[in-house]
Amino acid sequence: MALKDVTERVALLREKIERHNHLYYVQDAPEISDAEYDALFRELAGLEAEYPELDDSNSPTKRVGGKPAEGFTPYEHALRLYSLDNGMDLDAWYSFTERVSKAVGQQNIEYWADPKMDGLAMEVIYEQGRFVRAATRGDGLIGEEVTHNMRTVMNLPLVLRGDAVPELLEVRGEVVMSNRDFAALNHRQEEAGNKVFANPRNAAAGSIRQLDPKVAASRPLRFLGYGIGRVEWTDGSAEEWTTQKAVMDGLKDLGFAIPPEAKVCASSREVAEYFEVLKEQRAGLPFEIDGVVAKVNDRELQEELGYTARAPRWALALKFPALQTKTRLNSIRIQVGRTGVLTPVAELDPVELAGVVVSKATLHNKGYIEERDFRVGDTVLIQRAGDVIPQVLSVDLDARPASAEPYVFPTHCPVCQSAAKEDGEAVRCTNPLCPAKTVQRIIHFVSKAGLDMEGVGKKWVQKLVEDDVLTSPAELFALEKTDLLKYERMGDKSAENFMAAIAKARKEAPLWRFIAGLGIRHVGEQTAKTLAADFDDLDAISTVTREELQDLDDVGPIVADSVSDFMQSAETQAMFDRFKELGFWPTRGTKEPVSGSRLLDGKVFIFTGTLPVKRSEAQAMAEAQGGGISKTISKKVDYVVAGEKAGSKIAKAEKLGLEIIDFETFTGLLGQKKEKRQMTLLDY
Ligand code: IVH
Repeated sequence: MALKDVTERVALLREKIERHNHLYYVQDAPEISDAEYDALFRELAGLEAEYPELDDSNSPTKRVGGKPAEGFTPYEHALRLYSLDNGMDLDAWYSFTERVSKAVGQQNIEYWADPKMDGLAMEVIYEQGRFVRAATRGDGLIGEEVTHNMRTVMNLPLVLRGDAVPELLEVRGEVVMSNRDFAALNHRQEEAGNKVFANPRNAAAGSIRQLDPKVAASRPLRFLGYGIGRVEWTDGSAEEWTTQKAVMDGLKDLGFAIPPEAKVCASSREVAEYFEVLKEQRAGLPFEIDGVVAKVNDRELQEELGYTARAPRWALALKFPALQTKTRLNSIRIQVGRTGVLTPVAELDPVELAGVVVSKATLHNKGYIEERDFRVGDTVLIQRAGDVIPQVLSVDLDARPASAEPYVFPTHCPVCQSAAKEDGEAVRCTNPLCPAKTVQRIIHFVSKAGLDMEGVGKKWVQKLVEDDVLTSPAELFALEKTDLLKYERMGDKSAENFMAAIAKARKEAPLWRFIAGLGIRHVGEQTAKTLAADFDDLDAISTVTREELQDLDDVGPIVADSVSDFMQSAETQAMFDRFKELGFWPTRGTKEPVSGSRLLDGKVFIFTGTLPVKRSEAQAMAEAQGGGISKTISKKVDYVVAGEKAGSKIAKAEKLGLEIIDFETFTGLLGQKKEKRQMTLLDY
């Protein structure tokens, strides 16, 4: 391909990928499958590797995080980032609105109300529509520059959308992590023996304050815009931003996500109603919010009201009561996870907390208990965030009974009695055959993170392991309906669903799901996909060295060691043999099940000559849409994709009368099909 064509292709790919990021992360309305997205991404990454002169700091490929920084540079904000005055109840709200009305001499004032997000305040700056800088709020005047980390925030536009783009734009907003993503992150941290975060705000702040952007990239952060700093337009578009609502609509049009549920309220009373409604909905919202921010909607009135030394006179943060309460810690139960981690769980005197009765809360790990000195019999403060499992925060020392003894963390696994060993922050059971691990491993294997076998219930997995019917994930494929029907409580319909889920996985599961389902430490969906794209099957992965594994994108020494150790163990090899015996052995190119058919389903491709991307990438692009790959020319081949200097294969293909196409025609075939991608997370 000529450089001009490559340049155009790269620009097109960047635009496409950013459009799909926006559809997925901001609008919650994806148009293509993950596989199609991955194919676009890989093609772009391939071209960028081959043509370094086309480098661009705002390419979507830069979102994975670049080189670590040495430290943070202070950044002086052009306009101060003010704080907010707080109101603790509706009385405070009504006295605020009276003050506002009096000051501007007007009774009916419209307000813009949005949730007060509990995250990290941030300013992001765009010049000529391109993201150039990000800085934390700091003390409002001087913050820290964190551009490299903010680039990894998937819903932040790197290039502004639409035609009317300002010359200069400063957007203020909050960096947040959803409750679900937070719970999953803490779970991963626990399993890996790393420090857990106390709440989503700390997790967001900790991730942004990482020197290594790769770490930030691995944390599911989102940016929600709620206001602006400087804005400069070349034409008069600014005059349209005369209200807070217009600003927010404008930000939305430029590609920003804004806080959910935000709206105009026609009166102070409507704000009060909004506050009550949001307070009720609070626990079910995807993000932690700690109140409502009400802002005078008319920006001219905002100017007129002005600022105190600390906060605007035109806005008030109406805070919700805290989602915390005290109760008694009755006992500490130890749960054993998939990788053998012993997780302490507090058994509490049941208490009501924001409409839910709480009787259990996590104590995270041994270190967490020791640092805070939690003892059985203590009165403790607990907190609930959204639908996340509650946490024990602190102890009330004044209420400690004299008899309370320091907690001694078990030295043995409570399930199999084998020795437990400390590993970072975690304590692990050392027995590889511990039944608790087996249960969790099988539950992970069938979960959405693994083979996604809906119909195989957790309770039943537990029962089947207890009764020695299941001893490893492989044995699922040996199950027969009669094994299930022996249980009185198992109905015919449930047994059928159970068996159907297994049959479906057997037929359709792609290699990456199989790899992800094995629950190898540090191997999540992304790494599983990388492995599945480069190896034919698990045997192929078993035979490579750690060094070869490290050559793969995204695989560092820790992941390589973990994969290698897992593959080398005799137990793993025995399990693999069992999988094969039972006829379950996905290989590369196993079709990924997606709803509906894909454009290249059943079509066989062969790639020859020098292509604009690596041959393995071209093959992956075809496979992503259901295409098969052949290494040899035969009548079975549907398309011969010929690059430059394609040799003898072309003559042979012509002889057989096969269709010979160039790479561009091939990418044209890929671009035509659109599919809905299933959302699994509440993404903004
Ligand atoms: S408006 C001049 N709106 O709250 C107005 N702030 O207590 C300044 N915050 O540091 C802020 N959600 O980061 C505004 N919907 C929202 C907000 C919000 C969270 C944070 C903000 C600020 C802090 C002030």
